[in-house]
Amino acid sequence: MSRIVYVNGDYLPEGEAKVSIFDRGFLMADGVYEVTTVIDGKLIDFDGHFTRLERSLGELDIANPMDREAWLEVHRQLVAQNAVELGMVYLQVTRGAPGDRDFIFPDPETTAPTVVLFTQSNPALVDSPKAKKGIKVVTIDDIRWGRRDIKTVQLLYPSMGKMMAIKQGADDAWMVQDGAVTEGTSNNAYIIKDGRIITRALSNDILHGITRAAVLRFAQEAQMQVEERNFTVDEAKDADEAFVTSASTFVMPVVEIDGTKLGTGAPGPLATRLREIYIDESRKAAL
Ligand code: PDD
Repeated sequence: MSRIVYVNGDYLPEGEAKVSIFDRGFLMADGVYEVTTVIDGKLIDFDGHFTRLERSLGELDIANPMDREAWLEVHRQLVAQNAVELGMVYLQVTRGAPGDRDFIFPDPETTAPTVVLFTQSNPALVDSPKAKKGIKVVTIDDIRWGRRDIKTVQLLYPSMGKMMAIKQGADDAWMVQDGAVTEGTSNNAYIIKDGRIITRALSNDILHGITRAAVLRFAQEAQMQVEERNFTVDEAKDADEAFVTSASTFVMPVVEIDGTKLGTGAPGPLATRLREIYIDESRKAAL
């Protein structure tokens, strides 16, 4: 079935939606994005994603083309028009299409940002077979740029990282800088040792995950100990449990790192509990 998508103010069948070949998102990866999960036809943590979008745009000097209410309306329209029960809304804003290729930013008075949104359904989102088994990760060097806190569409290296993992029979890669894990290719990374949840602190080295913020809050509310600090690959291999978080995977247990099994090699009790809490609480607060 053809989807209805949103492009620059219009709701269109996906086959009719068009963006210029001069768009700076296409030519220079000059754009940002957000992924908001949909459960029961409702948006999970919409305000968190909206706030981070505003920040990403601000850091790149791109004007936010819509206010919160307008963004919410487009998200809701697309979820309704495409009858999405479980899945996500993807949004992308680029610096627009000035007409010529130029490294210099175009004048925002004459070049408006390009706005694209579309939905993807995923019936296995909540009742995920992967979450029951846990995922295997391999470690790779983190050779990305220095502003990973901005959610840009420069996703070539994360994409290559996933392919490196798959070639080694794993599911995903954790990136490593100066001996410490930064994050997963498209998720934040955590280990659990002696009941303590350990994850890298926020900085320009990692994306400030919206799921991360919620999960750490729920963990603290459930009296779990949280330590925000760097951890090494050796420490991770010696952990009792590990997991990743993102809008599209929630809390996903990690059961193997570079071929070393963690604990029994099955999803651990704390990661499993956190996944349940995250899904229950997010469902209650969905918009
Ligand atoms: N990825 N770190 C990176 C590098 C990411 O790309 C993501 C999200 C996260 C988790 O952020 P959040 O909890 O806000 O989803 C961390 C999205 C889901 C993606 O690219 O599809």
